[in-house]
Amino acid sequence: MATKNIVLVGLMATGKTTIGKLLGQKLDRSVLDTDDMIEAAAGKTISEIFSEDGEGKFRELESQMFTEACQKKEMIISTGGGAMQREENNQLAQTQQTIHLRSTAKTLAQRIELSDQKRPLVEGLKGKDLIDLAQKYIDERDENYTKAAAFIIDTDDKTPDEISEKIIQELEEK
Ligand code: S3P
Repeated sequence: MATKNIVLVGLMATGKTTIGKLLGQKLDRSVLDTDDMIEAAAGKTISEIFSEDGEGKFRELESQMFTEACQKKEMIISTGGGAMQREENNQLAQTQQTIHLRSTAKTLAQRIELSDQKRPLVEGLKGKDLIDLAQKYIDERDENYTKAAAFIIDTDDKTPDEISEKIIQELEEK
């Protein structure tokens, strides 16, 4: 397997953090999560950055942290769902081993409702409203994840273990 960083991209709740940790264990690599890096650098949570400093500030920090992460070697890097919308991040991702984790709006909405993670962009939404918003994000962003990635993994009917094994298999074939 090549020594490039493995980068996971996709919408919120597609499993980037969970799969990142699993890949780290299976491949014996260190894992970086850009959302965690942003919180550590800012000394506050993502929700606080959004409400106190605005989304623009968050996106600046996100680009900085993603660039920093990609300068390392042989890492697993989990990104936030909006990271591939910026052209500079997208181009950088194209130079790594990038994987698009994809899910349907219904699955995303179910996972977001079950999770206790705070996500400012979908806060307070549930049911059909949440499914509709998830679909809107898919429509807006799907193309950019696919542009950044070497291949796509559909996650809907797979366990985290199956997803990580499939990624390893695909990477070995490349
Ligand atoms: C965002 C997704 C979040 C986080 C921030 C913005 C987005 O990360 O970066 O709330 O724009 O989709 P996850 O994809 O890990 O939920």
